Amino acid sequence: MSEYTIEFAKSCDIDSCKAFDFDYISASDLRRDTETKQIILAKMQGIVIGYLRLNYLWYTTPFIDLIIVEKEHRKKGIGKALLELIITELKNDGKKMILTSTQSTNQEARRWNESAGFLEIGSLKTLHEGGSEELFYRKDF
Ligand SMILES: CC(C)(COP(=O)(O)OP(=O)(O)OC[C@H]1O[C@@H](n2cnc3c(N)ncnc32)[C@H](O)[C@@H]1OP(=O)(O)O)[C@@H](O)C(=O)NCCC(=O)NCCS
Repeated sequence: MSEYTIEFAKSCDIDSCKAFDFDYISASDLRRDTETKQIILAKMQGIVIGYLRLNYLWYTTPFIDLIIVEKEHRKKGIGKALLELIITELKNDGKKMILTSTQSTNQEARRWNESAGFLEIGSLKTLHEGGSEELFYRKDF
């Protein structure tokens, strides 16, 4: 099995970050997030195969905006390895919990959140068109 590395994104990774993230996030926003160690990459032979970007709600509360692992590399522990590094960093910064959210229709993400130790703490019922809820999760550490 090929080895992967888990590392904080650097400014030279911005093009890869842009390819993984939402279209509306600008390169300059992503660059700022690399400087504050809010983006973590999984790489295999130098190619990015997994991506986690952290945000802060109310400037204080860590929130995973986005976590994605390339389909062919899922279920190998890469998602949990991305989470582990951001938690280590947050603990060093004195934080004690992290939040995330997902649409109620995303069964894979819901199952993963639970297996990664997140607890469902509520939802925004009318956020999305079409009726799906946005479920929020919390993990203490
Ligand atoms: C959610 C997501 C990031 C998880 O990534 P992942 O790398 O597959 O996650 P992991 O490998 O850490 O865990 C997935 C499962 O594989 C299992 N697993 C981990 N290592 C394994 C291994 N070596 N062999 C077999 N199974 C393994 C885990 O136990 C887990 O199983 P479970 O969900 O039944 O408990 C991925 O499914 C994804 O990119 N989804 C699409 C994007 C998305 O919806 N993101 C969330 C909302 S932003």
